Amino acid sequence: MCHGRDGKGDGPYAVFLNRKPAVLTTIRERNKGIFPQERLYKMIDGREPVTAHGTREIPIWGDVFLAWSVQDFWPWGSEQLVRGRILELLFYLQSIQK
Ligand code: HEM
Repeated sequence: MCHGRDGKGDGPYAVFLNRKPAVLTTIRERNKGIFPQERLYKMIDGREPVTAHGTREIPIWGDVFLAWSVQDFWPWGSEQLVRGRILELLFYLQSIQK
């Protein structure tokens, strides 16, 4: 909705935002050629939230990256399962770097 289908920051909702959604394909370029995996991980799990993404407790993308969202059906490894989801997303973000 915000970053757009291709991560170019041109999603349909972007026009309603004061802050332009970041272009997700140039993160590495804007970070001296290094893909900031740890910073992005903390951004998504909420330890270093982006204000535009809401709070750690109520992020804009819902509870998909929060362990309690899988507690009911995966009680013995919810943290690991969510970690897997975040890492999959980071691998995807890395794959779209220019
Ligand atoms: C899972 C979904 C999302 C991911 C992975 C994501 C990822 C990111 C990342 C990595 C950045 C910072 C990039 C950088 O360091 O340059 C960012 C910034 C931003 N995102 Fe998202 N985002 C998501 C959803 C959203 C949504 C739904 C919105 C709109 C409501 C949004 C609006 C923004 C804005 C406005 C910024 C720029 C913040 C600023 O300049 O301070 N993002 N996003």
